[in-house]
Amino acid sequence: VFDEVCETTGVTLTRFMIEVAFLNPEMQELPALFSGISTACKAISDMVKRSQLTGLVGYADGGGSINVQGEEQKTLDIMTNDVLKRALRFTGKLGVLASEEEDTPVGVPLNPKDVVFDETSKYTAVFDPLDGSSNVDAGIPTGTIFGIFEHDDECEIAEGGSMTEDELLCLQNTLKPGTDLIASGYCLYSSSCFFVVTLGAGVYGFTLDENIGEFVLTHPNIKVPETSKIYSFNEANMPQWDVPMRETVEKWRLGTGASGNSFTSRYIGSMVGDVHRTLLYGGVFGYPSDKKNVNGKLRLLYEGAPMSFLMEQAGGLSTDGRGRVMEIVPKEVHQRVPIIMGSKKDVQEVIDAYAKSK
Ligand code: AHG
Ligand code: MN
Ligand code: MN
Ligand code: MN
Repeated sequence: VFDEVCETTGVTLTRFMIEVAFLNPEMQELPALFSGISTACKAISDMVKRSQLTGLVGYADGGGSINVQGEEQKTLDIMTNDVLKRALRFTGKLGVLASEEEDTPVGVPLNPKDVVFDETSKYTAVFDPLDGSSNVDAGIPTGTIFGIFEHDDECEIAEGGSMTEDELLCLQNTLKPGTDLIASGYCLYSSSCFFVVTLGAGVYGFTLDENIGEFVLTHPNIKVPETSKIYSFNEANMPQWDVPMRETVEKWRLGTGASGNSFTSRYIGSMVGDVHRTLLYGGVFGYPSDKKNVNGKLRLLYEGAPMSFLMEQAGGLSTDGRGRVMEIVPKEVHQRVPIIMGSKKDVQEVIDAYAKSK
């Protein structure tokens, strides 16, 4: 047993990724990419933790900086976006990335004079640099969400030339469904700094050991409980929800749902924190369709799909009420999607309620 404990607690993210690449030659570029992402997350964790002392709080330009979502950007929204873009670019493994805080996808060739795609830039990254940022000034947990796609080979951009319409479309080729993701994960900035990742073969959780500055494996092979007693929604929107969603939550409240469990409510308003608790404790987290926002609030490309990949890999479900979130092909980068995800049997109850309402 001692060897096992030593084996598990001593496995750092760096070593984990090297072993993954050793066993899966097609993933040999991933250790460098994950080194960039995890280093950026450590830097963001420090920035967020110290923001009250360094004055990195409040809204950028006194609230005058509005992102493509129409949201007032926090100072940290912008700074964390820069940290991630820089870290990803200097891995030299990326051709293009899409971010909540960028109007359109941006090319990140290692050498600015280079073409956007070359043989080394194998990957496309999508990310939400600071999720739950409305909470950040109150010290409530926030996070970073990321997804990694392989980029399309035919998506070559001419030597340093100006982009044709097709090439611009190519640059936009971040518009892929969750089923095309080769990796996704999040970093949660809370009482601990957690780095949770899937490469398509299970979900692995690491915790930052600040004494050695490394993410250490603490949750090998996370599995979400099949049923639960926790639902996690912004209940202020409940009167506007679709009827099947509303009726199911009303049953959970009364203990008259399929599981017979009486549910409690837990909602922190930061997707990363709510999803992390759901993965570990079980539950149903969501931002369903409502009359005001028929596509809900969460963005498909860099919130919905990466988190759905994790949830499904942990044995849970993730639906928009009618189908798998993972199968939805984005039509535009910041497209929103209704999401209900978590414990398999409880989410199935929502799917069945929608099916019956047809
Ligand atoms: P972001 O801070 O990246 O814009 O995301 C905020 C999202 C998500 O983190 C959370 O689940 C949801 O907004 C909360 O929305 P409400 O405040 O409307 O409940
Ligand atoms: Mn935002
Ligand atoms: Mn977000
Ligand atoms: Mn965000």
